[in-house]
Amino acid sequence: MRFAWIPPICRGCSDMKTSSSRSSWSSRWAFILVTIGSSVGLGNIWKFPYMTGSHGGSAFVLVYLLCVLLISWPLMMAEILIGRRGRGNPVSAMRSTARECGASSLWVLVGWAGALGALLILSFYGVVAGWIVDYLFKAFSGVRIETVQDAKQSFDALMNDPRQLILWQTLFMVFTVSVVARGVVSGIELANKIMMPGLFIILLCLVFWGALAGDMSAAAHFLFDIRFEAITPKVVLAAVGHAFFSLSIGMGAIMTYGSYLGKESNIATTSVWVAVSDTLIGLLAGLAIFSLTFRHGLAPAEGPGLILQTLPLAFSHMPGGGLFAALFFLLVSFAAWTSAISLLEPFVAWLVENRGVRRSLAAWGTGLAVWLLGMCVCLSFNVWSDFSLFGHTLFDALDGVTSRLLMPLSGIAIGVYVGWVMERKSVEDEMRLGSGAFSAWFAMLRYLAPVGIAFVFIHALNG
Ligand code: PHE
Repeated sequence: MRFAWIPPICRGCSDMKTSSSRSSWSSRWAFILVTIGSSVGLGNIWKFPYMTGSHGGSAFVLVYLLCVLLISWPLMMAEILIGRRGRGNPVSAMRSTARECGASSLWVLVGWAGALGALLILSFYGVVAGWIVDYLFKAFSGVRIETVQDAKQSFDALMNDPRQLILWQTLFMVFTVSVVARGVVSGIELANKIMMPGLFIILLCLVFWGALAGDMSAAAHFLFDIRFEAITPKVVLAAVGHAFFSLSIGMGAIMTYGSYLGKESNIATTSVWVAVSDTLIGLLAGLAIFSLTFRHGLAPAEGPGLILQTLPLAFSHMPGGGLFAALFFLLVSFAAWTSAISLLEPFVAWLVENRGVRRSLAAWGTGLAVWLLGMCVCLSFNVWSDFSLFGHTLFDALDGVTSRLLMPLSGIAIGVYVGWVMERKSVEDEMRLGSGAFSAWFAMLRYLAPVGIAFVFIHALNG
């Protein structure tokens, strides 16, 4: 019998029920929680504000919200469906569902693109998480950043210090790999239960502080004023890519977690929770960060360093700011950690399930490869700053290839696969939706997702 993989976040925890053949989440809440753990991460708190700032504010937000609603959320359901029906890592799940409906075995390529793409994301994700850990330590050691100059200098100093960057990236990767390697972290789910609501509450406090001390009205205008003229093909492609990144779509993470969802859980209502929480957390982070950005006269288009230049400044002016900063960076590190686990897991699961590699070896070996690539990213900020890949830095190239190419392409493939290739009867059985809702979802999957993404691609390439 094939080894039934138990997700590390869940192994040994009381929320698992073990059937004779395969384990599954005991409740849909357990699934919702780990899936929120995967989707809420740096994408919401670091990437969403900086992408919004660099792509014209509200134009990006509007397209992003539409993409989440009309493309990413429907695709999330499709991914959970494939995982649950295929019962395995993305490669196995694609293979077994393709076999079931007599489709070409080439569909496993979608599983491969996910499992490998996730590792590419993890290589730079670990580096950014390392920045957060650096600020966490700064907060703990009482470093105060009082002026805009200080904020800029402190971020630049970090980027120009390869040893520091590598140190933090290494630490973060070791934490991530050790969870995946041991497969047992008693209490991590419990920690998730505390940390995720904690992150939400602290973001609410930050928004409140933004309203008190920042320029909330400028932030709200920047994020929500409708400006159709600012919607360019570049903005649309960036927003589509981010709608995938933020909800963890197309990289096998959701598929793998979905493979443990019990048959009785309703995929649609379950995924609503994930999509809504993810979007809400991104919007809250955006409101807090931009009200402070405008208040301190920083440029919204500051780029990837935006939150690390804005927030420490705000913390230093806040009563109890030191403690608040430490708590904030701790929760963000945690959110990044649960996402990173879900990025490493699909490939490791494939090695374990399909190649019979020992879990610890699979995790440490894969982690090592990702860490090495991450180290190159760290060096590309300073020592190798002349290095460029088709005119892009290594960091931008990795982010661009995954968010703007691999994720949308996987998205098209998943939409086509569930919409056109799988038997409609089995899709209906899995979804258990009313006929109206099913038809609406199915149409989004069959037409809107593939045609919409293809259209955006063509325009962006021409533009
Ligand atoms: N969604 C995660 C975030 O927002 C990143 C991620 C992408 C995780 C793809 C898994 C798969 O930070």
